[in-house]
Amino acid sequence: MTYQDIINKRRSVYALNHQLPVSEDEVLTRIKDALVASPSAFNMQSAHALILLGEQHKTLWNDIVTKTLQAIVPAENFEPTQQKMNMFAAAYGTVLFFEDDEVVSNMKEQFATYADAFDTFAAHGQGIAHVNVWNSLAEVGVGANLQHYNPIIDDAVRERWSVPANWQLKAQLVFGGIEGAPGTQERMSADERIRIER
Ligand SMILES: Cc1cc2nc3c(=O)[nH]c(=O)nc-3n(C[C@H](O)[C@H](O)[C@H](O)COP(=O)(O)O)c2cc1C
Repeated sequence: MTYQDIINKRRSVYALNHQLPVSEDEVLTRIKDALVASPSAFNMQSAHALILLGEQHKTLWNDIVTKTLQAIVPAENFEPTQQKMNMFAAAYGTVLFFEDDEVVSNMKEQFATYADAFDTFAAHGQGIAHVNVWNSLAEVGVGANLQHYNPIIDDAVRERWSVPANWQLKAQLVFGGIEGAPGTQERMSADERIRIER
């Protein structure tokens, strides 16, 4: 499989199940290796992850996210939300991505000329880590979708898994076996998006 094949294979897969096409060990190794290999501005390595499996994964979706949303979404409109929560809970696990704000603050002090750029650098570093993990899982046929229930679940997540105060939740990558493949998606052509000058 070429690198482009892997990139093309990565999609937002929402219909996930508990049957991984490879071992749990391989999935965990891929998540770890992809995160560690991901570049960051000034090599600050401020992205962290907490991988939730089994009951911990279910607790996130069936308890924390569901209850948080129940307090916001009117009961009569909750059914579609409930279905989404059931879909996420049916997956194998979730990678919670965090940014170490202390590292970013220290970098702002240390490299004052770039201080204003560090929040953007940090966001880019997060995105790179997310997509590297997502692509690596896609390569072996593990489906995933990227969610952003932060910041409304931050406090409950912090309390449940004793997350350090300086780690800020940025994204949730839900992963598992592919129960249903996503449909095709329209993409603009490269010519519409990329200009080449010589
Ligand atoms: C930065 C970023 C944030 C996203 N946030 C969400 C999200 O919160 N919930 C969601 O269901 N999908 C989210 N997505 C998935 C996009 O909607 C999806 O990647 C896009 O429509 C392209 O589809 P594909 O992933 O199947 O190629 C996000 C994707 C990116 C890159």
